[in-house]
Amino acid sequence: MMTRQANTERDAVAWAQFWEDEGSDAHVVNSEADAQALRAVWRPFLEGGLSSGGRCRILDVACGNAVVAEQAVSIAAEHGGAQHAICCDYSEAAVRAAVRRLDGASVSGIVADAARLPVPDQSLDIVVSQYGVEYAGATAFAELARVVAPGGAVQAIVHRVGGVIDRRCQDDEALLLATLDSGVFKSFMTLLKIRHKAAQAGLEPAAAKPASARFARSVERVETARDAAGLGAARSHVARLLTDLGRVATNPLAYRLDEMEQWVEGQRHALRGFANRMQSMSRAARDEGQVAILADFFREGGLSGVSVASFDPAHHRLSAGWILRGHR
Ligand SMILES: C[S@@+](CC[C@H](N)C(=O)[O-])C[C@H]1O[C@@H](n2cnc3c(N)ncnc32)[C@H](O)[C@@H]1O
Repeated sequence: MMTRQANTERDAVAWAQFWEDEGSDAHVVNSEADAQALRAVWRPFLEGGLSSGGRCRILDVACGNAVVAEQAVSIAAEHGGAQHAICCDYSEAAVRAAVRRLDGASVSGIVADAARLPVPDQSLDIVVSQYGVEYAGATAFAELARVVAPGGAVQAIVHRVGGVIDRRCQDDEALLLATLDSGVFKSFMTLLKIRHKAAQAGLEPAAAKPASARFARSVERVETARDAAGLGAARSHVARLLTDLGRVATNPLAYRLDEMEQWVEGQRHALRGFANRMQSMSRAARDEGQVAILADFFREGGLSGVSVASFDPAHHRLSAGWILRGHR
């Protein structure tokens, strides 16, 4: 069986970068159809735990901006129950965004690794994770089980090897790496420098013709990779980048060289972070044998009714993940 590496420092940096750059407006799930399909999976589970109208403690693990905790809070409000939501992620910026998102509800944030939750044993009524806990490795599923209170329940939606998200991440990663390897940034800066130098020396822009041709060839390489890529977020990111590069390259003297150096460095950094994040998502995905092991961690943690189901939204040809459940 293929073993997947546990989370690395690079993954942590990539996620921190994502949440810091995007803040509370960030959406990991960016199609409304996907968001709806996810909400439809969560609703019956959350209603099961929240419909009594009593007090309920909810934990959203690897919460990102806490869309699941938010749904739980709104369902609890429908049933007139009091609830306290705890949003946990190892990115501080994500936890900040989550707490802001649930503004008005009874909410607290924890910055922690999902494999080591600073939460007492059996202290939570509803434990949820949406495409999150699996990043922390298989033993993090034992952590989820540990914190479920008697009468409480846990549900996790988990990335799937060969699923629609895994495929998209691999596709996006390939395009981002192809862009970084295309030479587009280097040829862009060379062109700009030559045009600035030529202007200072009073030479015609034609002096930059070979540099211009090199830049055009590297743009073509990126365009070829972009056209071969699927319709993921990387494609629109790279399309925007090409537009920006093209705008500057047609009128380079309107831009300061030092500012352009800095801008290019920022763009490279963003592409690398994006590619690392895509890699971390693919690495988190589990195949059928691996998800059975995750379910065993729930059983060994004393949970009953442990089940694994495939998450198959009707609008996708491929599965979108696994749904793991258990209760105490
Ligand atoms: C794909 S996002 C999902 C976010 C959110 N649950 C959602 O569905 O929108 C994965 C999240 O896991 C967090 N994460 C990754 N590894 C983690 C770990 N070891 N411990 C805690 N959080 C982690 C990331 O910071 C990120 O917010």
